[in-house]
Amino acid sequence: METLKGMERTFNCGELRKTDEGKIVQLAGWVSRRRDHGGLIFVDMRDRSGIVQIVFDAAEIGAEFSKAETLRNEFVIGVRGKVRARSAETVNPKMATGEIEVVVNELRILNKAKTPPFYIQDGVDVDENVRLRYRYLDLRRPEMQQNIILRHRVTKIMRDYLDENGFLEIETPMLCRSTPEGARDFLVPSRLNPGQFYALPQSPQIFKQLLMVSGFEKYFQIVRCFRDEDLRADRQPEFTQLDIETSFLNQDTILTLMEGLVKKIFESTLNVEVKTPFLRMSWAEAMERFGSDKPDLRFGMELQDISEFVKGSDFKVFNSVLEKGGQVKVINVEGYADIPRRELDDLVEYCKIYGAKGMAWIQYTAEGVKSPFKKFYSDETFEKIKTATGAKTGDLLLVVGDKASVVAQALGELRLEMARRRNLIDADKLCFLWIVDFPMFEYVEEEKRWKAMHHPFTAPREEDIEFLLTAPEKVKANAYDIVLNGVEVGGGSLRIYQSDLQAKVFEAIGLTQEEARAKFGFLMDAFEYGTPPHGGIAFGLDRLVMLMSKRKSIRDVIAFPKTQSAVDPMSHAPSEVDEKQLRELYIKTTVKKSAN
Ligand code: AMO
Repeated sequence: METLKGMERTFNCGELRKTDEGKIVQLAGWVSRRRDHGGLIFVDMRDRSGIVQIVFDAAEIGAEFSKAETLRNEFVIGVRGKVRARSAETVNPKMATGEIEVVVNELRILNKAKTPPFYIQDGVDVDENVRLRYRYLDLRRPEMQQNIILRHRVTKIMRDYLDENGFLEIETPMLCRSTPEGARDFLVPSRLNPGQFYALPQSPQIFKQLLMVSGFEKYFQIVRCFRDEDLRADRQPEFTQLDIETSFLNQDTILTLMEGLVKKIFESTLNVEVKTPFLRMSWAEAMERFGSDKPDLRFGMELQDISEFVKGSDFKVFNSVLEKGGQVKVINVEGYADIPRRELDDLVEYCKIYGAKGMAWIQYTAEGVKSPFKKFYSDETFEKIKTATGAKTGDLLLVVGDKASVVAQALGELRLEMARRRNLIDADKLCFLWIVDFPMFEYVEEEKRWKAMHHPFTAPREEDIEFLLTAPEKVKANAYDIVLNGVEVGGGSLRIYQSDLQAKVFEAIGLTQEEARAKFGFLMDAFEYGTPPHGGIAFGLDRLVMLMSKRKSIRDVIAFPKTQSAVDPMSHAPSEVDEKQLRELYIKTTVKKSAN
């Protein structure tokens, strides 16, 4: 096998330009594609920086040419050659290096390669499991390299910006006591403490608060977090947060600092302008207008209430909903009154996934109104609804009546689905906003108790403290989420820093003093020793980079992610372990060993 000795690279493939014409260059990289034209062989040669066309001309390199004939895709090669301008007809405007090519006079084959299971090129249509099984090859594809490079750039800017603003990067433990973020913990058995377990951190929440007690004032960490929850396109069992905590700053100052960070990230990596300050919308308004606490503001189609027009009729469905304190709301899908009946039936089923019992509609067609509840209302009522909702002839209203939370969820999801189907989303738009004034608690029906909506260290608004134990539903929290294009990319809050208030919040969520002490005693103890007012936020780094690289899944911006079922098809994690390992950990599984 040959080496690069004496022919070390002098240029990267992707950086050669017309201005380099005539230079003798030494390149190293992979064979991306090879076209054999008899006495001429063209190879697209790839390294991290990009692709350049190299040419083997039998007339110029003589004996070396037969070596070039043995090249196959993904061979690793080193070449020396001369940069020459391509003739006008062969210029490739789609390639950064498309105006030149390198005529090779020496070739070294540094390594051969088996035929890869899929082409190493952008836009491959390959089952994701296969891509993950051969992730090292998948990551060789230029678009995947770009994602990972972007991720690097983003974290670099985060570090620089936070450093410039006086933040310190401090690591916190991976082997912890379980934190109360709400998801299931990943547990790690302790060999030295038989029968006891560590939990991997769901976030460094408690530690970052303790660092404020310690007086570090401004902390950040780019940190892996672990949550054993059901996975989706934007959820991984291990994901990365940019975790931040500050002392003595009010909510406004924190949000402004974070807007500056986001602006810097987007402007210096994607070169797009981000306008600050971001819109701030209360949670209640977001639910009311968009049926979501992470509204996508790239398009309209807001939820509108038509309860006042449909109440008191013979139509039992709406009547009973309204009598029980529910609501009837619509979205206007403009210009889609001619929706096929099949699609309407399909949308009814779609709404049912989100808890609605059904979905109705009003089609304002040129021939008049079509609606399953037409016979229950006068033409005048349909006209009133038309005016109130701003609908025009040719528009379609989709209608859901139920209790407020169900209407919000079903219509909120329907709004997104219709925007996708009708192609209403401008993929180049960036719509940031803060959701603020979250309810402090949510009621868990099954457990018949109140639970902290964010986490139990979140501070209630000062003016609502009096309702903590008497009317928890009234209490709003000093919590905020940052939303980009319908995705929650971060969330945080001001924290409680006084033990008596903390004790009250624990009481409100039904934690006894003893339970609270058992779970977070060390935090409560720490709070007795002079805790500054503090607050922070955590960004989901994977989600942010996913949106920046216009990907649909965070798996595309994580080098080695897990599948939806939390496995790694490449290394086959998780796996069974030796009996001996289990014995050392005092663990016995109740699962029968699988055949393989
Ligand atoms: P939270 O739980 O909202 O807050 O998490 C912060 C952000 O992390 C991202 N995120 C995830 N990304 C990928 N996969 C997951 N499974 C996942 N879960 C969350 C989201 C989310 O907005 N300690 C608090 C922050 C604080 O109060 O300062 C916390 O962890 O983008």
